[in-house]
Amino acid sequence: MSKKYHIHTFGCQMNVHDSEKIAGIFSEFGFNGSEDSKNADVIVLNTCSIREKAEQKFFSELGRLKKVKQHNPDLKIAVAGCIAQQKGKDIFIKYPYVDFIFGPNNIDHLQSWIEAWDVKDLSKSDARRPTVVHLTAVDDNPEYHTKILPMKRVGQVKAWVSIMYGCNNFCAYCIVPYTRGREKSRSPEDICKEIEALADQGFIEVTLLGQNVNSYGRTLEGNIDFPDLLRKIHTIEKIRRIRFVTSHPRDFSEKLINTMKDLPKVCRHLHLPVQSGSDRVLKAMNRGYTYNEYKKKIDLLKESIPDAAITSDIIAGFPGETEEDFERTMTALSEIEYDGIYAFKYSKRPGTKALDMPDHIDEEIISRRLSDILKLQESVTFRKNKALEGESLEILVESKSGTDPDKMTGRTGANKIVNFCGDDEDIGKIIQVKILKARMHSLDGEKI
Ligand code: 5AD
Ligand code: SF4
Repeated sequence: MSKKYHIHTFGCQMNVHDSEKIAGIFSEFGFNGSEDSKNADVIVLNTCSIREKAEQKFFSELGRLKKVKQHNPDLKIAVAGCIAQQKGKDIFIKYPYVDFIFGPNNIDHLQSWIEAWDVKDLSKSDARRPTVVHLTAVDDNPEYHTKILPMKRVGQVKAWVSIMYGCNNFCAYCIVPYTRGREKSRSPEDICKEIEALADQGFIEVTLLGQNVNSYGRTLEGNIDFPDLLRKIHTIEKIRRIRFVTSHPRDFSEKLINTMKDLPKVCRHLHLPVQSGSDRVLKAMNRGYTYNEYKKKIDLLKESIPDAAITSDIIAGFPGETEEDFERTMTALSEIEYDGIYAFKYSKRPGTKALDMPDHIDEEIISRRLSDILKLQESVTFRKNKALEGESLEILVESKSGTDPDKMTGRTGANKIVNFCGDDEDIGKIIQVKILKARMHSLDGEKI
């Protein structure tokens, strides 16, 4: 009987996509995926270290697995992702029942581990021995970004495609450059080949993934940038929608705005994290732009593509953030009127510059600022959704609604979720809906 793997993914889309690669490798070795960790032969925890909370969730899950493993000593436990990369072998010291550790730039090493454990006929005692760590320093697997890994994707309508790995920005609060290493772009040929194959399999939409897609191409020979890449992908016929995350405001260019405007398949949605509305804080964060520079780009975008939705990330309580700085962020939210934001309390991350900065803010103050930010944004989001009532919009139908089994769910180009009465046959189709009612996080519509 074939073995079963179970993957528990923490964190961002990047991790969800990495889990598709991990699943792809297990499938290649004949393993079956299992939703349930209870009957799995191997459990992979794909970890996130962006904020302390995500890290705590992982460690409590890992602690829980100790008992599970005592009952079932044949169970293998693998730790992947950003915490694996950062803590490395230290994880073995405190959690000796972990069998395998690999980082985001070492997913290909899973192949040799599965071979050693499963394919080669090791005696049970050997197989139980804690396995060697397949973890290099973050940039010591330089060919990783050129490898074509098998993938087992979630869903059949939209797919993630990595266009670059790593990040060179070193924002003062952020751990990503330490866990995912230096920025490296994949070749346009590899990317287009992957997307052509997706189109042949029936996928309609792709989301291009990178920490800073606007610097795509810098590590490649030749003269290709992100807008050029979009144009290439745009020629792939059966792909009807193209999205991308994340854009860095410093590198977000007029050329990209014009390209988005030119290419109808590029969705009218831009995620452009501002982080703060205060120049002083932006400088301390090492973001490389002022609020005015940011605002100018937003104004240009709104002017060129008036129906574009804009979303953002905000950090509340960065070290040294005064009430005045915070008020500037509130002003920015009122001025820009985002369609939606992700707002976070600043979280101390080991090894980052911000950790050693003076004037860390009290938890209570951070909580209050975060809740003010969310409250203000909720009113803006709702107002913007309300303005869509009565409109006729195009959506790509993705699946049954998670909350109402009688409804189907899809997204507009601007990334708004629309629930409507329909059936399974709608999945994968682009249809017109009339918006009947706005909610905070979704819209109710009907087919027209
Ligand atoms: N604390 C809080 N938020 C953070 N982010 C990144 N690092 C931290 C941190 N230490 C947020 C940023 C980024 C998003 C992905 O996560 O807003 O854009
Ligand atoms: Fe982190 Fe900044 Fe890189 Fe984004 S751009 S991953 S926030 S360092």
